Amino acid sequence: IQCIGVLTSGGDAPGMNAAIRAVTRTAIANGIIVKGIYRGYRGLITNEITSLETQSVSNIIQRGGTILKTARCDEFRTPEGRRQAHDVIVEHGIEALVVIGGDGSLHGARDFAQEHNFPIIGLPGTIDNDLSGTDLTIGYDTALNTIMECVDKIRDTASSHERLFFVEVMGRDAGFLALNGALATGSEAAIIPEISLEKDQLAEMIEQGFRKSKNSSIVLVAESEVTGGAMGVAERVKKEYPQFDVRVSILGHLQRGGSPSAQDRILATRMGEAAIEALLEGQRNVMVGLQNDELVLVPFAKAIKKDKPIDRHLLDVLRIVSR
Ligand code: F6P
Repeated sequence: IQCIGVLTSGGDAPGMNAAIRAVTRTAIANGIIVKGIYRGYRGLITNEITSLETQSVSNIIQRGGTILKTARCDEFRTPEGRRQAHDVIVEHGIEALVVIGGDGSLHGARDFAQEHNFPIIGLPGTIDNDLSGTDLTIGYDTALNTIMECVDKIRDTASSHERLFFVEVMGRDAGFLALNGALATGSEAAIIPEISLEKDQLAEMIEQGFRKSKNSSIVLVAESEVTGGAMGVAERVKKEYPQFDVRVSILGHLQRGGSPSAQDRILATRMGEAAIEALLEGQRNVMVGLQNDELVLVPFAKAIKKDKPIDRHLLDVLRIVSR
């Protein structure tokens, strides 16, 4: 392989820049030309492509977001859009792609690779941590730390006013951020889409949260139609417990920003290097994953399967330690 393309796609995640840096520099060290594709798959269709040199990725390891920009591209979901992208790739002499992104991005990678018999290596870049075959995704740790800082602050005001707070965190349809965010902040409970919460369980949780010395509570709610989000849960609770002073806080996109944590920078760097090694070994259409601190290669079909298990025992732990 003499020339590769690298792109970031879907929701940005802290550590994507560290991944771009590692991919670029490892490729150059192996004599491979690197082309940076702007705005994810959209840039492949609209031909927004630039050469990346060693210096192009200087001073970015500590920056959140992605220097290559990102987008969610509807056209790439169609065979016609992918064909246009393929024409542009051929025009630039790109012989393989490294795609850094989440579930939607890897779906696109799988379809494109199959249709055009084209080698792609994926890197899991999403704050949601919802890709199978990897214990961690790039950006998840930073987002978790951001949630922790925010909830610590909410705790100050919640306890001063003796309020019950429902704090909504991201995750799309996955509860990793909510569950582990709750553990990290000593929250009283987590409501996650993977585990349905019967009405009386919610009641028990709230009453337990407000017993004895505890006169304020924080419940982390994962955004999702299943949970109803923090607003939905708060409305239900307000109706049944008018005596509680309920507030809602939706953390939103601030969870996606910020300088990546050491863990995310190291993960992104290891995975970026491994992506090029994998290409050189002739691997294709796999995602680099982390399992028990070892890097592994996971077929796209497995990575996007949406069957990543959440540790249900952690909900019990949360219940016990927040008493
Ligand atoms: O996948 C990352 C993520 O931040 C999800 O947690 C969230 O549901 C979604 O992206 C939000 O996407 P957008 O920034 O396009 O609104």
